[in-house]
Amino acid sequence: MRKPIIAANWKLHKTVAETGAFLNAFLPEVTGIDDVEIVIAPPYTALLSATGKLSGTNVTLAAQNVFYEERGAYTGEISPAMIKDLGCAYAIIGHSERRQYFGETDETVNKRIKAALGHGLKVIFCIGETLEQREAGRTNKVLKGQLDGGLTDIPIDDIVVAYEPVWAIGTGVTATTGQAQEAHAFIRGVLQKKYGDKAQGVRILYGGSVKPDNVDDIMACPDVDGALVGGASLEPDSFAKLVKFRRSQK
Ligand code: PGA
Repeated sequence: MRKPIIAANWKLHKTVAETGAFLNAFLPEVTGIDDVEIVIAPPYTALLSATGKLSGTNVTLAAQNVFYEERGAYTGEISPAMIKDLGCAYAIIGHSERRQYFGETDETVNKRIKAALGHGLKVIFCIGETLEQREAGRTNKVLKGQLDGGLTDIPIDDIVVAYEPVWAIGTGVTATTGQAQEAHAFIRGVLQKKYGDKAQGVRILYGGSVKPDNVDDIMACPDVDGALVGGASLEPDSFAKLVKFRRSQK
């Protein structure tokens, strides 16, 4: 049994006050839900205030990224120990926006994952193809390359994979259930070759324009074990609806 995860990636949104207002509205909506892991990744600046509000609740805190060095002359970076200290259980690593705008590569993603695991964090490891790569028929090759590169010398136990087709992120265009299931099954197959039967226990999230009106269809795909959500996670009502996706389909 793979326990589903519904995760909010707030990206560059929300001050401390806005985070507090969101949680005040959201937490009562999801009290007592224990068949889904609920994860929220605010910006770094709101982690400390969020951790106070989340203590004793069923919602887990994540950071949107983490650097691979522990300390030193790395202006602007944040270490795994620092986010652990703020109560994060997860770090999102390898998001396509990090790859696209901040020069992250499979190699730096791999180093970040190693550092995060080394500090007892769990990792939401993001992969996904661009539209150009999909149209050129290279989706599987790209996904395999990202999995091989990102997971070099890494045990799978504390990794959650997020499949996020770049063309579906923030565009309103969702992958069809067929496209999502095909990619997720392919990813699980690659993990099966690398890790054997442990692959059956790995949660693989879908990300890319997930909304209350498409979450049930996406979650019904057999190899989709959750969602990583940007835009539709910013409003408490909308994110609570996602957490309450239709269970009977699973
Ligand atoms: P979106 O973002 O839900 O706004 O498409 C998803 C993500 O980037 O994780």
